[in-house]
Amino acid sequence: MAKTKSIYVCQECGAQRARWEGRCSDCGTWNSLVEEKQVSAAPTKSTRGWSLGQTEKGQTLKTIKLSEKIVEAKTQRGTTGFSELDRVLGGGIVPGSYILVGGDPGIGKSTLLLQMAGGVAHHNQTVLYVSAEESVHQTALRAQRLGVHSENVEMISESLLENVIELAKSKKPDVLVIDSIQTVYLSEIQSAPGSVSQVRECAGHLMSLAKNLGMTIFLVGHVTKEGNIAGPRVLEHMVDTVLSFEGDPHHQFRLLRAIKNRFGATNELGVFQMQNSGLSEVLNPSEFFLEDRNLEAIGSSIFAAMEGSRPLLCEIQALTASSPTAMPRRTALGFDHNRVHMILAVLDKFLKIDSSHADVFINVVGGLRVTEPAADLAAAAAILSSASGSSLSGATCFFGEIGLTGEVRAANFAVERVKEAVKLGFRRIVLPESNRKHMSDEWKKQSVTFVFIKEVRDLMRLVNGLQKTPHKSSQFPKESLDL
Ligand code: TYD
Ligand code: MG
Repeated sequence: MAKTKSIYVCQECGAQRARWEGRCSDCGTWNSLVEEKQVSAAPTKSTRGWSLGQTEKGQTLKTIKLSEKIVEAKTQRGTTGFSELDRVLGGGIVPGSYILVGGDPGIGKSTLLLQMAGGVAHHNQTVLYVSAEESVHQTALRAQRLGVHSENVEMISESLLENVIELAKSKKPDVLVIDSIQTVYLSEIQSAPGSVSQVRECAGHLMSLAKNLGMTIFLVGHVTKEGNIAGPRVLEHMVDTVLSFEGDPHHQFRLLRAIKNRFGATNELGVFQMQNSGLSEVLNPSEFFLEDRNLEAIGSSIFAAMEGSRPLLCEIQALTASSPTAMPRRTALGFDHNRVHMILAVLDKFLKIDSSHADVFINVVGGLRVTEPAADLAAAAAILSSASGSSLSGATCFFGEIGLTGEVRAANFAVERVKEAVKLGFRRIVLPESNRKHMSDEWKKQSVTFVFIKEVRDLMRLVNGLQKTPHKSSQFPKESLDL
């Protein structure tokens, strides 16, 4: 006989309690425990994850001794039709992989996966697209409008997961898309679709499907207000790859990041553009992000960043303005807040740039997020430019980390950064002294000038030297700028 009992599940971290608590004792979130009915059915031969189900009496499970010779299974990666998506996945789809695509509602997850279905079908693979959010006609119409007309793609609107699994087992598609994991449900679990128990159980069942049948499964996951993929960490542990689709709905571009990847590097970034005809790839993102740049702008510098394995140039803007309040503001968009405080403290200590009465704003243009410490030098240059009221030369590019003793530390991938900058026409590159050994004479022939910097004082001299349009209403007294 199946018995029903109540348990309380934290909707934030998935912790289970026998009694209700006002605050989850695991993750500390208030009011997150929700009562869920649990049916403890008589044990059946069910499979979950990597398990093949309960073993018969006398049957032993097969193990591998590490002294044995293990032949590497050659995985032939499939293509998604989008080279940007392939790269973020680590070089294409590994058959049998389990992939979660998270993102805000309306950011374009369905669009991306519909177009991907078209790309996969184009390479003679079959796709089953399960929409549990929109009617099958609506989704099919949208897919056709996006140019997907292949007979290799089949669609259905179904939210009962048992039915979906039955269908997938009979159709055996190469790729199964579940849009979304928060709207499908298992009838044996009583809680509502989207609750932690449902999400966890559904994801577990789909995982066995992926692993036992070698079917690639893409899950669409919604993101909560806090920016976590709803139905939360439990899902991230189960899947092989977590992709995050981000972007400002008011802008055209969309960024696809790998947050976790068992089959490739994380921190890879794919750049897309949302247009009337759907998503298109941006193959030269540096050009894209520098498009609207004003070469004479005051308080702007160019940073040669690395996003995963790819260099990316972006513009960092700074604005220093006298503050009307006793507590000046430090606002950072797309930049680490703590690093802004640190850079300002270093500029104060070593260059006597006093910003205690100035509001300081830092913005990375285009909605990009820069997390590398190597962005310090570019941010410091932009702040100095804004503070002195003079523009930096538009053909200069910066990278390097600033330390607390005012030193400028080496950055990794220096050669890749320089190559990208030179490719986009930058002829003066400001970089740490310790990266000098990586720079060959080859560049000099292309009339590239390197300015090697050892400490922030050198940066000050450089900024003064680069000044093209000294501004009369300089915010800081001239003598504090001349070292
Ligand atoms: P959608 O893929 O439905 O988002 P999600 O699945 O992440 O919720 O995308 C919805 C948005 O994309 C919608 O606001 C309109 C826009 N869009 C376009 O601009 N062009 C297009 O060709 C399509 C299909 C959508
Ligand atoms: Mg959608």
